[in-house]
Amino acid sequence: MTERTLVLVKPDGVERGLIGAIIARIETKGYTVERLELLRATPEQLAAHYAEHEGKPFYPPLVEFMSEGPLVALVASGHGVIQGFRSLAGTTDPTTAAPGTIRGDLGRDWGLNVQKNLVHGSDSEESAAREIAIWFPEG
Ligand code: CMP
Repeated sequence: MTERTLVLVKPDGVERGLIGAIIARIETKGYTVERLELLRATPEQLAAHYAEHEGKPFYPPLVEFMSEGPLVALVASGHGVIQGFRSLAGTTDPTTAAPGTIRGDLGRDWGLNVQKNLVHGSDSEESAAREIAIWFPEG
């Protein structure tokens, strides 16, 4: 079965006009974009998506930031795409993410109480299935 992952271009990526640059990295790596939607996240979607972070100090500002503007949800597919996209994205903190990665090349610390780090990618097959169902509930 083809592996799939859920990618979000977060509101900071959309606001900075980086949708195309980010999708280009996914496509030039050789992965396929199967679904794509520009949308405003509902509180229910964010609560479900970030359930594991509820109660952490960065959770309230994270949910606020993710509600600030439209984001792009997409499903990318290809062998190894879950790990492969996380590798393309780079580590969570854009200040130290390696150059050559999305966060390392395009992101930075803006001095805020949340890490605006441009993208999200599922971290496992289980997370991917759960997250794809949150953002593409129609199947
Ligand atoms: P993401 O991959 O979407 O998963 C959780 C998000 O929380 C993460 O990207 C960052 O945007 C944010 N985040 C994680 N750790 C911290 C932190 N220590 N401080 C602020 N924001 C964080």
